[in-house]
Amino acid sequence: MDRAPGPSVRLKLTLSYAGFLILAGILTFAVVWMVLLRYVPGGNGIRAPGGHFPGQEFLLRSFAPAVGIALGFLLVFGFLGGWILAGRMLVPLSRITDATRRAAGGSLSHRIRLPGRTDEFRELADAFDAMLARLEADVAEQQRFAANASHELRTPLAITQTLLDVARHDPGRDTAELIDRLRAVNTRAIDLTEALLLLSRAGRRSFTRERVDLSLIAEEATETLLPLAGERGLTIQTFGDLTPVLGSYALLLQMTTNLVHNAIVHNLPERGTVWVTASVLPGAVALTVANTGEELTADVVSTLVEPFQRGTQRVRTDDAGVGLGLAIVKSITRAHDGTLTLAPRSGGGLLATVQLPAAPPAGG
Ligand SMILES: Nc1ncnc2c1ncn2[C@@H]1O[C@H](COP(=O)(O)OP(=O)(O)O)[C@@H](O)[C@H]1O
Ligand SMILES: [Mg+2]
Repeated sequence: MDRAPGPSVRLKLTLSYAGFLILAGILTFAVVWMVLLRYVPGGNGIRAPGGHFPGQEFLLRSFAPAVGIALGFLLVFGFLGGWILAGRMLVPLSRITDATRRAAGGSLSHRIRLPGRTDEFRELADAFDAMLARLEADVAEQQRFAANASHELRTPLAITQTLLDVARHDPGRDTAELIDRLRAVNTRAIDLTEALLLLSRAGRRSFTRERVDLSLIAEEATETLLPLAGERGLTIQTFGDLTPVLGSYALLLQMTTNLVHNAIVHNLPERGTVWVTASVLPGAVALTVANTGEELTADVVSTLVEPFQRGTQRVRTDDAGVGLGLAIVKSITRAHDGTLTLAPRSGGGLLATVQLPAAPPAGG
């Protein structure tokens, strides 16, 4: 913003400080003058024979110069003291301004770190430091994400390139197999791109909210994935109360599908179980997806939501996802003002809980 130059706060503070000092001085002298007039003999306005007031004249003559000197001193003292005091008061402000300019210039690692005991300036500086720390962490996370996403996207492209190179140097090869492999690699690239798009869409929070029943969504997601569970010899058990929430049907379905899909593909190789439960809590609703599987430690579990983080999996199946499933769940949950909690299930496997605010009662 372009602003016209104006007097500095230091000057304004100095002027008001000096102004108040002078005003106080004048008032004090006025009171003293009144008192003197009253109690000094001959000063109380009694006229001497001859028509004048000798007491007053005498008082004025001896009092006025002293007042003049005192006021002059107050003026100098007010300006000088005010200037110095205001300068000292405003030192933290210039440090804060300096830090703001640096941040605006792109340096987020700088901190103000104002020393001293708490006051308004220190509170502002601390709040500013906290904001910078948060911004810095967010930017670092975004950069990490972009680097990971580029890396993940490059993989299928590089594989495609290799397949094409091999085909060019060996024209006698079976093209049907090549096409199948190219198609598989391409599908993976599309999946990844779609997951990335979904992630950014959920993060933008720009969806319309409608009243939906989470237990119905859970039922639909489970039904769609039933064939996959069947292939792997898994049983899925669903339990559902009526669980109304306000949100995007499509996004909540995606969230539930990701959780149930994970519970199926990261399960035991055979005879595993998946439990899907929608329940009502005071003021909130919860969706719990639990599954049997490998023993997981709390340390490993805490990293799983990170984008592109895949757990320690010995067997890589074709259903291995792109590593964004839980990141998408978290993003959708957050966009719905809810929370995602992951915990190792006792006996192996994972326990994922999504809590969302309950929809207000319908109708009026
Ligand atoms: N229900 C689950 N049971 C066991 N491990 C899981 C479960 N869900 C996720 N994981 C682990 O978390 C990792 C990340 O999950 P996700 O973000 O969905 O990525 P992806 O499924 O694409 O690998 C998985 O690779 C897996 O190791
Ligand atoms: Mg997944």
